[in-house]
Amino acid sequence: MKKIVVAIDGHSSCGKSTMAKSLASYAGYKYVDTGAMYRAVALAATKAGLLDTQEIDLQKLENLLPTLNIDFTVTPQGQHTTLNAEDVESQIRTLQIGSAASRVSAIPFVREQLVSLQQAMGRAKGIVMDGRDIGTVVFPDAELKVFVTATPEVRAQRRYDELQAKGTPMPYDDVLRDVLDRDYRDTHRDVSPLRQASDALLLDNSNLTREQQSSLLQSWFDAKVK
Ligand code: DC
Repeated sequence: MKKIVVAIDGHSSCGKSTMAKSLASYAGYKYVDTGAMYRAVALAATKAGLLDTQEIDLQKLENLLPTLNIDFTVTPQGQHTTLNAEDVESQIRTLQIGSAASRVSAIPFVREQLVSLQQAMGRAKGIVMDGRDIGTVVFPDAELKVFVTATPEVRAQRRYDELQAKGTPMPYDDVLRDVLDRDYRDTHRDVSPLRQASDALLLDNSNLTREQQSSLLQSWFDAKVK
């Protein structure tokens, strides 16, 4: 069976990673969460104090980037993100780092560096990559492109439930505001704004169960590799 590249893009908190992971395990493919890579940069920038002010010190951020080694490691709890060999999975999953990631991901040189790293990761194909610009910029020739969405309210509720389960609850209205803010920033930034590639299949999962979503995705995948 031929190996392909699967590009999964879409809005924040619509379950992209869950579906990308489940497809990767179905296909026996590598999974790359590119949002985690932007979050890792955001974490490092936050720790270095570069995001404390409205204006980011771009020179300092540019100097910081080459010192960052972002990778993934498999743990009994699943795939975790590492930053300079430290497991930063739980540190990068906070709302604060999510917003910081949205800020750093709008900076062209940050995107250039991460995009080339992502292209290198997918060169051998057999990969499922999720993010915002995978089908449009990172792998415009990906054999299967999926654009995932759900209503902001459904996404906010899912994020709210996740935060609750993790023991870091936030009021629903704050979570919804964060979802809407991120949508706005992700779709309105100058570089690689989030948009559906013309050849991407649209998957609105507002009213789908995980199982329905997985089987739909698997059928699209099967049709491409056969
Ligand atoms: O998917 P996520 O919430 O973990 O992504 C974090 C931020 O990174 C989000 O604001 C969008 C940005 N991002 C991006 O600009 N390009 C990608 N390929 C992946 C994420």
